[in-house]
Amino acid sequence: MSAKQNEIKFSIKTEDAGKLRCDCIVVGVHDHRQLTTTGRALDKASGGHLTKILRSGDMNGKSGSTLLLHGIPGLLAPRVLLVGLGKEDEFSEKRYRDVIASAVEALKDTGTEHIAMTLTETQVDNRDVVWNTAQATIVASDVLYRFERMKSKPSDPANLKHISFATSKRQETAANKGLKQGVAVAHGMSLAKDLGNLPSNVCTPSYLADQARQLAKTYAFKCKVMDRAACEKLGMGSFLSVAKGSDKPPAFIELRHEGGKKGDKPVVLVGKAITFDAGGISLKPAADMDEMNYDMSGGGSVLGTFRAIGELGLKLNVVGLIPSCENMPDASANKPGDIVTAMSGLTIEILNTDAEGRLILCDALTYAERFKPAAVVDLATLTGACVIALGHHPSALYANDDKLAQKLEQAADQAWDRVWRMPMWDEYQEQLKSALADVANIGGRAGGSITAACFLSKFTNSYPWAHLDIAGTAYRSGREKKGSTGRPVPLLTQFLINQQG
Ligand code: BES
Ligand code: MN
Ligand code: ZN
Repeated sequence: MSAKQNEIKFSIKTEDAGKLRCDCIVVGVHDHRQLTTTGRALDKASGGHLTKILRSGDMNGKSGSTLLLHGIPGLLAPRVLLVGLGKEDEFSEKRYRDVIASAVEALKDTGTEHIAMTLTETQVDNRDVVWNTAQATIVASDVLYRFERMKSKPSDPANLKHISFATSKRQETAANKGLKQGVAVAHGMSLAKDLGNLPSNVCTPSYLADQARQLAKTYAFKCKVMDRAACEKLGMGSFLSVAKGSDKPPAFIELRHEGGKKGDKPVVLVGKAITFDAGGISLKPAADMDEMNYDMSGGGSVLGTFRAIGELGLKLNVVGLIPSCENMPDASANKPGDIVTAMSGLTIEILNTDAEGRLILCDALTYAERFKPAAVVDLATLTGACVIALGHHPSALYANDDKLAQKLEQAADQAWDRVWRMPMWDEYQEQLKSALADVANIGGRAGGSITAACFLSKFTNSYPWAHLDIAGTAYRSGREKKGSTGRPVPLLTQFLINQQG
């Protein structure tokens, strides 16, 4: 898999800091030049050298600042990187992650090959070494992630190849647990990012289907890919109405991880995978349309999550469903006013062909019924309105079941891949009334993310269901900075880990 290109090794080390064999030890400094526990041990081993440097005023401990030191006496490591942690009582999850990122950022273009981080010992309120280690692994992988498959000449390989987390013997088991989870999540995110970043002329529905087949081979998942004819037989009239606007054949991908007991109800993950969203006949404006290759991020994250749970060997039954096609303005594309019949039998008046995500998801949600799911969670870059409502920090969470919503909120907090719950009141449902069909596919400009969720809710009456609108969180925009984030792989993986019971 392409994600292997720049994979980095992670490990736990329990030696005393002074005896760590590596190219650089990373040490935290709190505001007002306060060394951490390991920092003090290193200072002692070096005969007070670190204290002397702190007194020089070059590093006062401001959050995110870094100072690279060479040739510290008394240590086996040739370098020490001091990293500012800021005020101790203001330390938070965000700070912790930022500080790890600054450290890796500061070292990634130096000659350092192997670094030993001691930052995982820093106390974050209500968090433990498992959390610290998992998060450090995920953040470091994120900083080191590169996507260069589409460049004719890839840049020089990074020097940095190995990150160790220095841990006390007492915490070794916890650190290893966090490491294992963090690495699996990082690998899953990396796959989701690669798939998201690939342009739509490469990452087609068939390409995604091949990726699913490859994953199935590696982790012994069951995999089935349904083509247009198979979907027709099932009556997926809504999904296929979107697919027929493009000459690329659609694919409906089904992956099954059977890690639980036979007969245990599965969790079903459904991911929107529009490999390019031009809007269809309701064509999108040109500005930023290039970013619509990311409209398969829901499906990409389902594949990424499967990689993570395959690697972890979760004892749980999980089904992944990925309806995939393009949304293009071809001659046989949906036209505004067309009425189609979904697999559930509901008729849909397509008032805007650009509201296509819900049209492919609704048939997948109906198809999900056959698995008698314990819960269904769909994820989709569904609405621009979601980005206006919540920005780029949380994914919007909708649910027809409070218990399921709470479990997802909890997993999101644990994984630091956060969500914000949104309402789905009857008043919003009324915005979807159609004069001619059972339901319209849009509910007007007001509350656009909410009415999209309300539309989906009409297809989810037979199981506990939640929907994540990830339009603001799955990728970053911008000419030079655009790129997939790999979210919500961390949240989904954590949720499934917790579901193991
Ligand atoms: N894929 C888009 C949503 C989107 C927009 C994601 C911007 C990320 C950034 C979706 O298919 C769409 O076009 N939604 C429309 C719905 C509208 C026509 C009701 C939208 O948000 O404008
Ligand atoms: Mn659209
Ligand atoms: Zn879309």
